[in-house]
Amino acid sequence: MKALILSGGKGTRLRPITHTGAKQLVPVANKPILFYGVEAIRDAGITDVGIIVGDTEHEIRAALGDGSAFGVKTTYIRQEAPLGLAHAVKIARDFMRDDSFVMYLGDNLILDGITPLVREFERDRPNSQILLAHVPNPQEFGVAELDGTKVKRLTEKPKEPRSDLALVGVYMFDSSIFDAVNAIQPSFRNELEITDAIQRLIDTGKVVHCHVISGWWKDTGKLEDMLEANRMVLSRAKRRLSGKMDGASRTEGEVIVGAGTVVEHSILRGPLIIGENCVIKNSYIGPFTSIYDGVTIRNSEIEHSIVLERCTIEDIPVRIEASLIGKEVRIQRSQAKPTAYRFMVGDSSLVDVL
Ligand code: DAU
Repeated sequence: MKALILSGGKGTRLRPITHTGAKQLVPVANKPILFYGVEAIRDAGITDVGIIVGDTEHEIRAALGDGSAFGVKTTYIRQEAPLGLAHAVKIARDFMRDDSFVMYLGDNLILDGITPLVREFERDRPNSQILLAHVPNPQEFGVAELDGTKVKRLTEKPKEPRSDLALVGVYMFDSSIFDAVNAIQPSFRNELEITDAIQRLIDTGKVVHCHVISGWWKDTGKLEDMLEANRMVLSRAKRRLSGKMDGASRTEGEVIVGAGTVVEHSILRGPLIIGENCVIKNSYIGPFTSIYDGVTIRNSEIEHSIVLERCTIEDIPVRIEASLIGKEVRIQRSQAKPTAYRFMVGDSSLVDVL
């Protein structure tokens, strides 16, 4: 079997973070989301991995390289525009030849991996196997209607969902999917939908199995989803302290601190992760917080948040929470008069003030 990871697309819902980077590379617990997918595929014993890339190709290539660091072999497939998930399958035809494959959406995170699901597909040999999960907001996903255990109908982002079963962003196909993606038309959002292609498989009498997953899964397209993913991954963190911590500092629970990081006069209450070469002084870092490399935090409190590389947070009098702070952001307290908020914030940013 081969794999196809989708790392193109636009990332509009995570702006402004995605103005400057691929959404699949935003870190969860200090590891790019995309890496979790690559590792899940590798753990399932698949090593031949096609990567669909768009405008952020150079970044994705820089992060994954030839795949050897992950124990896989990557082949990059350029998608000229994000014309849909089924379009991505179409352009992967030459890479796949007649092999079966797992398609994995690069912004999805399945905490327990996909190994048993791949084994099930290999054993039962349906034309396709889809994964479903109960969600509270099915209108934001592809939605499945079942007849007993059989898939009856799949609808992409229905206004009035007929069930709460969302399509998870991991699909398994044999080569019959290529006829299906060639037969469908663009949808209401002008994309070739994989949902319609799978419906086409059903309508033409192909065998489509479904598996309702019970483990934790997230499509990390939005801020709240990123923060929840971060919470879930960190809740499995195991204490590991490097760097230098002074006697006036205290750690509680599962705390990970990277090499070269200096912690002084601070409280670190896990689960949390702090990357390498950070400076944490006179501060409180609370649970479910991921601080990436090269960050400085002084005289401030933060929890339930993700802070990307090389940020500085200084002298903030109120605790920061539920925040996603992009690379090299500076948040500071100003003594200048007149007393006022002063912002230099990128396009599509969100600032909540007291
Ligand atoms: O996350 C599960 C959902 O993913 C499913 O329930 C939906 O049925 C499915 O259509 C998909 O919905 P989204 O609207 O969330 O897909 P999104 O546009 O976010 O794209 C998913 C990933 O695929 C993302 O990493 C970007 C990449 N992509 C997307 C498109 C449209 C590409 O590489 N090429 C594309 O043309």
